[in-house]
Amino acid sequence: MRLLVLAMLTLGGVAAAQDCTACHATQVETRKEGKHVKVACDTCHGPQVKHAESAGKEKPAKLDVKALCLSCHELGKAKREGTLKVNPNEHYAGSACADCHLPHKPQT
Ligand code: HEC
Ligand code: HEC
Ligand code: HEC
Ligand code: HEC
Repeated sequence: MRLLVLAMLTLGGVAAAQDCTACHATQVETRKEGKHVKVACDTCHGPQVKHAESAGKEKPAKLDVKALCLSCHELGKAKREGTLKVNPNEHYAGSACADCHLPHKPQT
Protein backbone atom coordinates (compact mmCIF):
# COMPACT_ATOMS: atom_id res chain seq x y z
CA MET A 1 0.00 0.00 0.00
CA ARG A 2 2.71 2.41 1.00
CA LEU A 3 4.72 1.73 -2.14
CA LEU A 4 1.66 2.17 -4.29
CA VAL A 5 0.85 5.50 -2.67
CA LEU A 6 4.42 6.69 -3.11
CA ALA A 7 4.38 5.67 -6.75
CA MET A 8 1.15 7.57 -7.31
CA LEU A 9 2.45 10.65 -5.55
CA THR A 10 5.60 10.61 -7.64
CA LEU A 11 3.79 10.12 -10.90
CA GLY A 12 0.79 12.30 -10.27
CA GLY A 13 2.18 15.05 -8.06
CA VAL A 14 -0.04 17.27 -5.98
CA ALA A 15 -3.04 17.15 -8.28
CA ALA A 16 -3.33 13.38 -7.86
CA ALA A 17 -2.69 13.64 -4.13
CA GLN A 18 -5.81 15.76 -3.75
CA ASP A 19 -7.96 13.27 -5.60
CA CYS A 20 -9.48 11.07 -2.93
CA THR A 21 -10.13 8.22 -5.31
CA ALA A 22 -6.41 7.58 -5.86
CA CYS A 23 -6.03 6.24 -2.32
CA HIS A 24 -9.55 5.19 -1.36
CA ALA A 25 -10.56 2.54 -3.88
CA THR A 26 -12.65 0.72 -1.23
CA GLN A 27 -14.96 3.68 -0.68
CA VAL A 28 -15.18 4.33 -4.42
CA GLU A 29 -16.20 0.70 -4.95
CA THR A 30 -18.76 0.72 -2.13
CA ARG A 31 -20.40 3.87 -3.46
CA LYS A 32 -20.88 2.62 -7.00
CA GLU A 33 -24.24 0.95 -6.44
CA GLY A 34 -25.53 3.48 -3.92
CA LYS A 35 -27.60 6.63 -4.11
CA HIS A 36 -24.71 8.76 -2.86
CA VAL A 37 -22.57 8.03 -5.90
CA LYS A 38 -23.15 11.52 -7.29
CA VAL A 39 -22.33 13.30 -4.03
CA ALA A 40 -18.64 14.28 -4.24
CA CYS A 41 -16.28 13.13 -1.48
CA ASP A 42 -15.48 16.67 -0.44
CA THR A 43 -19.16 17.63 -0.14
CA CYS A 44 -19.24 15.50 3.01
CA HIS A 45 -15.57 15.38 4.04
CA GLY A 46 -14.40 18.85 3.04
CA PRO A 47 -11.42 19.38 0.73
CA GLN A 48 -8.87 17.61 3.03
CA VAL A 49 -5.90 19.10 1.23
CA LYS A 50 -3.47 18.54 4.13
CA HIS A 51 -4.69 15.01 4.57
CA ALA A 52 -4.19 14.17 0.91
CA GLU A 53 -0.82 15.90 0.64
CA SER A 54 0.46 14.08 3.72
CA ALA A 55 -0.63 10.74 2.20
CA GLY A 56 -3.10 10.24 5.03
CA LYS A 57 -0.83 11.10 7.97
CA GLU A 58 -2.85 14.22 8.84
CA LYS A 59 -6.17 12.67 9.89
CA PRO A 60 -9.40 14.37 8.85
CA ALA A 61 -11.52 15.56 11.76
CA LYS A 62 -14.39 13.25 12.70
CA LEU A 63 -17.66 14.29 11.15
CA ASP A 64 -20.83 15.21 13.01
CA VAL A 65 -22.63 12.46 11.14
CA LYS A 66 -26.20 13.21 12.13
CA ALA A 67 -25.91 16.93 11.37
CA LEU A 68 -24.31 16.08 8.04
CA CYS A 69 -27.09 13.69 7.02
CA LEU A 70 -29.81 16.08 8.09
CA SER A 71 -28.23 18.94 6.16
CA CYS A 72 -29.55 17.20 3.03
CA HIS A 73 -32.36 15.03 4.40
CA GLU A 74 -34.19 16.93 7.16
CA LEU A 75 -37.86 17.41 6.42
CA GLY A 76 -38.73 21.09 6.29
CA LYS A 77 -35.16 22.30 6.90
CA ALA A 78 -32.70 20.87 4.40
CA LYS A 79 -32.30 23.27 1.49
CA ARG A 80 -31.14 20.61 -0.91
CA GLU A 81 -33.74 19.76 -3.55
CA GLY A 82 -34.25 16.29 -4.97
CA THR A 83 -33.52 14.33 -1.80
CA LEU A 84 -35.91 12.21 0.25
CA LYS A 85 -36.61 13.88 3.58
CA VAL A 86 -37.22 12.49 7.06
CA ASN A 87 -38.40 14.01 10.31
CA PRO A 88 -35.59 13.19 12.78
CA ASN A 89 -38.02 13.31 15.72
CA GLU A 90 -40.06 10.50 14.16
CA HIS A 91 -37.59 8.62 11.99
CA TYR A 92 -35.93 6.21 14.44
CA ALA A 93 -35.13 9.03 16.84
CA GLY A 94 -32.52 8.02 19.37
CA SER A 95 -30.50 5.83 17.00
CA ALA A 96 -27.58 7.02 14.93
CA CYS A 97 -28.23 7.40 11.19
CA ALA A 98 -25.17 5.29 10.40
CA ASP A 99 -26.43 2.40 12.57
CA CYS A 100 -28.80 1.65 9.71
CA HIS A 101 -27.50 3.50 6.64
CA LEU A 102 -23.95 3.12 5.37
CA PRO A 103 -22.79 6.67 4.62
CA HIS A 104 -21.24 5.50 1.35
CA LYS A 105 -24.20 3.31 0.39
CA PRO A 106 -27.25 4.41 2.33
CA GLN A 107 -29.85 2.04 0.87
CA THR A 108 -32.12 0.43 3.40
C1 HEC B 1 -2.17 9.96 -0.93
C2 HEC B 1 -3.18 9.08 -0.36
C3 HEC B 1 -4.46 9.67 0.17
C4 HEC B 1 -5.27 10.60 -0.46
C5 HEC B 1 -5.06 11.32 -1.77
C6 HEC B 1 -6.43 10.72 0.39
N1 HEC B 1 -6.31 9.92 1.48
FE1 HEC B 1 -7.69 9.65 2.97
N2 HEC B 1 -6.46 8.34 3.91
C7 HEC B 1 -5.24 7.92 3.43
C8 HEC B 1 -4.65 6.98 4.38
C9 HEC B 1 -3.29 6.28 4.23
C10 HEC B 1 -5.57 6.88 5.45
C11 HEC B 1 -5.44 6.02 6.69
C12 HEC B 1 -6.04 4.68 6.31
C13 HEC B 1 -6.13 3.75 7.44
O1 HEC B 1 -5.82 4.11 8.58
O2 HEC B 1 -6.60 2.62 7.18
C14 HEC B 1 -6.71 7.72 5.12
C15 HEC B 1 -7.83 7.86 5.90
C16 HEC B 1 -8.92 8.66 5.58
C17 HEC B 1 -10.12 8.82 6.40
C18 HEC B 1 -10.36 8.13 7.71
C19 HEC B 1 -9.67 8.90 8.81
C20 HEC B 1 -9.76 8.22 10.15
O3 HEC B 1 -9.85 8.93 11.16
O4 HEC B 1 -9.71 6.97 10.20
C21 HEC B 1 -10.95 9.66 5.72
C22 HEC B 1 -12.32 10.15 6.18
C23 HEC B 1 -10.29 10.05 4.51
N3 HEC B 1 -9.07 9.42 4.44
C24 HEC B 1 -10.83 10.90 3.57
C25 HEC B 1 -10.18 11.33 2.42
C26 HEC B 1 -10.74 12.27 1.48
C27 HEC B 1 -12.12 12.90 1.57
C28 HEC B 1 -9.80 12.45 0.50
C29 HEC B 1 -9.87 13.38 -0.71
C30 HEC B 1 -9.99 14.80 -0.41
C31 HEC B 1 -8.66 11.63 0.85
N4 HEC B 1 -8.92 10.96 2.01
C32 HEC B 1 -7.50 11.55 0.10
C33 HEC B 1 -4.63 8.31 2.27
C34 HEC B 1 -5.13 9.25 1.39
C1 HEC C 1 -22.82 11.52 2.00
C2 HEC C 1 -21.60 11.89 2.69
C3 HEC C 1 -20.31 11.19 2.32
C4 HEC C 1 -19.75 11.11 1.06
C5 HEC C 1 -20.28 11.67 -0.24
C6 HEC C 1 -18.50 10.42 1.24
N1 HEC C 1 -18.32 10.07 2.55
FE1 HEC C 1 -16.75 9.10 3.36
N2 HEC C 1 -17.68 9.02 5.15
C7 HEC C 1 -18.86 9.67 5.47
C8 HEC C 1 -19.19 9.43 6.86
C9 HEC C 1 -20.39 9.97 7.60
C10 HEC C 1 -18.16 8.60 7.38
C11 HEC C 1 -18.01 8.08 8.82
C12 HEC C 1 -16.77 8.73 9.37
C13 HEC C 1 -16.85 9.70 10.49
O1 HEC C 1 -17.49 9.40 11.49
O2 HEC C 1 -16.17 10.78 10.41
C14 HEC C 1 -17.22 8.38 6.29
C15 HEC C 1 -16.04 7.63 6.38
C16 HEC C 1 -15.04 7.60 5.43
C17 HEC C 1 -13.75 6.95 5.57
C18 HEC C 1 -13.28 6.16 6.78
C19 HEC C 1 -13.39 4.68 6.51
C20 HEC C 1 -14.78 4.24 6.22
O3 HEC C 1 -15.03 3.75 5.10
O4 HEC C 1 -15.66 4.41 7.09
C21 HEC C 1 -13.07 7.16 4.40
C22 HEC C 1 -11.67 6.68 4.06
C23 HEC C 1 -13.93 7.93 3.52
N3 HEC C 1 -15.11 8.17 4.17
C24 HEC C 1 -13.59 8.35 2.26
C25 HEC C 1 -14.50 8.84 1.33
C26 HEC C 1 -14.20 9.03 -0.09
C27 HEC C 1 -12.86 8.75 -0.72
C28 HEC C 1 -15.33 9.51 -0.67
C29 HEC C 1 -15.57 9.78 -2.16
C30 HEC C 1 -15.21 8.66 -3.06
C31 HEC C 1 -16.33 9.65 0.39
N4 HEC C 1 -15.79 9.22 1.56
C32 HEC C 1 -17.62 10.15 0.21
C33 HEC C 1 -19.63 10.40 4.60
C34 HEC C 1 -19.42 10.54 3.24
C1 HEC D 1 -24.85 16.59 0.20
C2 HEC D 1 -26.15 16.01 0.38
C3 HEC D 1 -26.26 14.68 1.09
C4 HEC D 1 -25.77 14.33 2.32
C5 HEC D 1 -24.88 15.14 3.23
C6 HEC D 1 -26.32 13.03 2.61
N1 HEC D 1 -27.09 12.60 1.58
FE1 HEC D 1 -28.23 10.90 1.54
N2 HEC D 1 -28.76 11.30 -0.37
C7 HEC D 1 -28.40 12.41 -1.09
C8 HEC D 1 -28.90 12.30 -2.45
C9 HEC D 1 -28.70 13.32 -3.57
C10 HEC D 1 -29.60 11.08 -2.51
C11 HEC D 1 -30.34 10.50 -3.74
C12 HEC D 1 -31.76 11.06 -3.76
C13 HEC D 1 -32.55 10.50 -2.64
O1 HEC D 1 -32.84 9.27 -2.67
O2 HEC D 1 -32.83 11.23 -1.67
C14 HEC D 1 -29.53 10.48 -1.17
C15 HEC D 1 -30.14 9.31 -0.80
C16 HEC D 1 -30.19 8.82 0.50
C17 HEC D 1 -31.02 7.72 0.95
C18 HEC D 1 -32.00 6.92 0.10
C19 HEC D 1 -31.33 5.63 -0.32
C20 HEC D 1 -32.18 4.77 -1.20
O3 HEC D 1 -31.69 3.70 -1.58
O4 HEC D 1 -33.30 5.16 -1.53
C21 HEC D 1 -30.76 7.54 2.28
C22 HEC D 1 -31.37 6.50 3.20
C23 HEC D 1 -29.76 8.52 2.65
N3 HEC D 1 -29.43 9.28 1.55
C24 HEC D 1 -29.22 8.63 3.90
C25 HEC D 1 -28.19 9.51 4.23
C26 HEC D 1 -27.43 9.46 5.46
C27 HEC D 1 -27.66 8.46 6.58
C28 HEC D 1 -26.54 10.49 5.43
C29 HEC D 1 -25.48 10.83 6.42
C30 HEC D 1 -24.44 9.80 6.60
C31 HEC D 1 -26.74 11.19 4.17
N4 HEC D 1 -27.73 10.55 3.47
C32 HEC D 1 -26.05 12.33 3.77
C33 HEC D 1 -27.70 13.49 -0.62
C34 HEC D 1 -27.07 13.56 0.62
C1 HEC E 1 -33.11 2.01 13.09
C2 HEC E 1 -32.67 2.17 11.71
C3 HEC E 1 -32.66 3.55 11.10
C4 HEC E 1 -32.09 4.70 11.60
C5 HEC E 1 -31.39 4.90 12.94
C6 HEC E 1 -32.26 5.71 10.59
N1 HEC E 1 -32.92 5.20 9.52
FE1 HEC E 1 -33.37 6.13 7.79
N2 HEC E 1 -34.43 4.53 7.15
C7 HEC E 1 -34.50 3.32 7.80
C8 HEC E 1 -35.42 2.44 7.06
C9 HEC E 1 -35.78 1.01 7.44
C10 HEC E 1 -35.86 3.18 5.93
C11 HEC E 1 -36.85 2.73 4.84
C12 HEC E 1 -38.24 2.65 5.37
C13 HEC E 1 -38.66 3.88 6.11
O1 HEC E 1 -38.76 4.97 5.50
O2 HEC E 1 -38.86 3.79 7.33
C14 HEC E 1 -35.22 4.48 6.02
C15 HEC E 1 -35.39 5.49 5.09
C16 HEC E 1 -34.65 6.68 5.09
C17 HEC E 1 -34.70 7.67 4.03
C18 HEC E 1 -35.56 7.60 2.78
C19 HEC E 1 -36.92 8.11 3.18
C20 HEC E 1 -38.00 7.83 2.15
O3 HEC E 1 -38.98 8.64 2.11
O4 HEC E 1 -37.91 6.83 1.42
C21 HEC E 1 -33.85 8.68 4.38
C22 HEC E 1 -33.53 9.95 3.61
C23 HEC E 1 -33.28 8.33 5.67
N3 HEC E 1 -33.78 7.11 6.06
C24 HEC E 1 -32.37 9.10 6.37
C25 HEC E 1 -32.02 8.88 7.70
C26 HEC E 1 -31.29 9.83 8.52
C27 HEC E 1 -30.81 11.18 8.05
C28 HEC E 1 -31.13 9.25 9.74
C29 HEC E 1 -30.52 9.87 10.98
C30 HEC E 1 -31.10 11.15 11.43
C31 HEC E 1 -31.76 7.93 9.68
N4 HEC E 1 -32.28 7.76 8.44
C32 HEC E 1 -31.80 7.01 10.71
C33 HEC E 1 -33.84 2.98 8.95
C34 HEC E 1 -33.19 3.88 9.79
